[in-house]
Amino acid sequence: MKKYVVTGGAGFIGSTLVRTLLNAGGEVAVIDNLLSGHEKNVLEVRDRIKLHILDIRDGTAIAPVIDGADTVFHLAAIPSVPRSIDEPRPSHEVNIDGTFEVFNAAAKGKVRRLVYAASSSAYGDSETLPKIETMPAKPKSPYAVQKYVGELYASVFTSCFGLETVALRFFNVYGPRQDPSSAYSGILSLFMKHLIARTAPTIFGDGEQSRDFTYVEDVAALCLKAANAAGVAGKMFNAGNGSHYTLNQIWSMLQEMEGVKIPAKYGPPRAGDVRHSMADTAAAKAELGHAPKFTIEDGLSKTLAWYKGSL
Ligand code: UD1
Repeated sequence: MKKYVVTGGAGFIGSTLVRTLLNAGGEVAVIDNLLSGHEKNVLEVRDRIKLHILDIRDGTAIAPVIDGADTVFHLAAIPSVPRSIDEPRPSHEVNIDGTFEVFNAAAKGKVRRLVYAASSSAYGDSETLPKIETMPAKPKSPYAVQKYVGELYASVFTSCFGLETVALRFFNVYGPRQDPSSAYSGILSLFMKHLIARTAPTIFGDGEQSRDFTYVEDVAALCLKAANAAGVAGKMFNAGNGSHYTLNQIWSMLQEMEGVKIPAKYGPPRAGDVRHSMADTAAAKAELGHAPKFTIEDGLSKTLAWYKGSL
């Protein structure tokens, strides 16, 4: 049985990936410090995984968990563009120093492959859409810089230390278990919370900014494909749908789904915000066999059903 390690496995995306790996028949160890992850996210699979409550900045503590794994999926991070602007040091330390410790432990522990959760924020405001992997990175926020540094490290760990790595630039992932309780929460979790409470969300700017919202199960499936594809070591791929919707469109779709009319409030634009984001998916399709299954309608309705059952 393959041994998988998921850093950030008690988080929103990580906990979905854990389920995908268990379904694929793997043995799964999770490293999570429960800063933004929650044990309840892995509750129904708790007896099938090993949960190590550890901080990725502690290289000595995480090394024995990572040692000899088939694949490490490195998802642990302090997310959020605005959080990295308000508090740059903690996100720098976790997203760059912690990432180094995970890569170092994987190289030393003879891990076969490491899949790194990079971010679409690395593209910044490049005007051309869709965003293609060959475009230069133009990070606009500390978070985007940090995630991009991780990509550079991933590629160098392949070339200098022989660790096979694949970086996936996640595009605005949404779905069940995304935590809506913080001011830094992802917009779709906030929309869900407001829709269910019948309250108005605040949209920063005019709401015409667009994102390639990607359903979490599609991202988890792509992570597993990235772990197994041949000839991709040291490369980076987009993990998106290849479509984009404005915040105004998404809020309208959600109101329609519930048959309600709740006009959003509008606030000033957010610092570090990217205007438009949409992935080119050709490389991920050709080299990783990426085949997203969920349309935005499917993803939104599955997500809404989950929030209704849990909030
Ligand atoms: C960015 C990255 C994404 C990454 C995520 C991690 C881009 C294009 N995407 O997402 O890949 O995974 O960081 O945190 O850089 N907003 C509101 N009201 C709110 C909250 C947010 O209008 O209450 C707006 C934001 O200003 C933004 C959009 O919603 O325009 C999405 O914000 P958010 O969900 O925080 O994600 P990004 O910053 O786009």
